[in-house]
Amino acid sequence: MVNLTAPFSDASVKNRQPIVEKLKRLLKKSIKVLEIGSGTGQHAVWFAPRLHWLTWVPSDLPQQILGIECWLNDFPSKNLAPPLALDVSEHWPRIKHDAIFSANTAHIMHPLQVKKMITKGARSLPHRGLFCLYGPFIFKNILLAESNVEFDKKLQDLDPYMGLREFAELNKLAAASSMQILEINPMPANNHLIVWQKTGNCPI
Ligand SMILES: C[S@@+](CC[C@H](N)C(=O)[O-])C[C@H]1O[C@@H](n2cnc3c(N)ncnc32)[C@H](O)[C@@H]1O
Repeated sequence: MVNLTAPFSDASVKNRQPIVEKLKRLLKKSIKVLEIGSGTGQHAVWFAPRLHWLTWVPSDLPQQILGIECWLNDFPSKNLAPPLALDVSEHWPRIKHDAIFSANTAHIMHPLQVKKMITKGARSLPHRGLFCLYGPFIFKNILLAESNVEFDKKLQDLDPYMGLREFAELNKLAAASSMQILEINPMPANNHLIVWQKTGNCPI
């Protein structure tokens, strides 16, 4: 039975299966994955047993850790590590991960935090390490779906620093951090799963 005090995200129940189907292929050679902005922890407890060959390390801001622990206690997996307190703009714990996954974080974080997530994330990865970023994004020359236009407006009404990010801008940051684009996977409900691969040593 689900712990009634645990935080709950309806969206993560809807998107978890399409995402994990992609991750099974993308992360088939990965050993340890750092998840940034795990939120409730529902993705972590769904993904870990389905990606049983790797270790999944959830993380989020300190105030989210208790909620993630509730989900991990209710749905433990041998390959699920305790959640780490990680603010992308502060010190990153060294856990020797070879892949990063983050869902629905870029439009919530301040643009400077998004920059930190990509540049510090790239720096933390080994050569050939993967950075998988899921969410709604803006692509030049592709009409933004009405649902995403509305979502973007809602976010900016809440906080002018929030909002959908342009893929081209994220990709510029990734390229400057020695990551090259590997895949852009269209996902249900006008989302995408973007995958970069570290190609060498980070210049920054
Ligand atoms: C919309 S939630 C997404 C949660 C989950 N990944 C999902 O898809 O259901 C965004 C998450 O980003 C986290 N976040 C915001 N700013 C952050 C930062 N500076 N460093 C790390 N995580 C951050 C929030 O605490 C929140 O859990």
